[in-house]
Amino acid sequence: MTIWHTIGQQLKSPSGFAGRLTGSLMRIANDKPNRLAVDALRIGCRDNVLELGFGPGHAIEMMASRTPAGTICGLDQSAVMLEQAERRNQTAIEEGRVFLYRAAFESLPFAKACFDKILAVNVIYFWRDPLAVLREIRRVLRPGGCLSIYATDAATMRGWKFAGPETHRLYGADELSEILHGGGFDPNRIFVRNVHVARRVNGLLATVSASTKPMRLRANGC
Ligand SMILES: C[S@@+](CC[C@H](N)C(=O)[O-])C[C@H]1O[C@@H](n2cnc3c(N)ncnc32)[C@H](O)[C@@H]1O
Repeated sequence: MTIWHTIGQQLKSPSGFAGRLTGSLMRIANDKPNRLAVDALRIGCRDNVLELGFGPGHAIEMMASRTPAGTICGLDQSAVMLEQAERRNQTAIEEGRVFLYRAAFESLPFAKACFDKILAVNVIYFWRDPLAVLREIRRVLRPGGCLSIYATDAATMRGWKFAGPETHRLYGADELSEILHGGGFDPNRIFVRNVHVARRVNGLLATVSASTKPMRLRANGC
């Protein structure tokens, strides 16, 4: 196993000492994508928000400061990330405004239509079955609710040795739109734009609003 594969694996599933270190680095490296994706959600003071794959808990902290009368829930499979995110958000957890869970994207432990907004930053690469995850997202997002997804553009990531196909599935703007459509979202409500993150780092920001009416799914959808 190469060092690059090990880094890719730690980003997908942080564990042990290397996972703690990865969490600290993610906190810095992913600041801008998190800000862009959180801003796109336009969080209101009473919103109930879910983050998929909170990592070190940086976006959870940002969002908790924007919704004093709402709640922020987060979910991540990594025990090490749960520990870091809990530490970062300890006060808001004690106040009953932030709730963090160790669970998987593929089976969200929440009731139907209970979130106004959903955030997913730098996690879509790890969706083994994107349609299954999108089905879960549509289930827990209320009609008219909003989803914000950030992914670094495939064109940038192809140059990153740690983002190989054994750990990462890459998306360009078209693939991102198509997967969201295939997952049951109305194409008229999917907006994907290019965002500049840093020198030679281009990102994609997808914002999707859930239809207020049930939508007929395509044959290759859920
Ligand atoms: C690259 S990190 C991104 C963390 C954070 N969103 C950020 O931008 O800094 C990906 C996170 O997704 C989590 N993850 C990956 N696959 C998962 C799955 N199937 N279910 C739940 N969490 C998962 C990992 O544990 C990790 O914390």
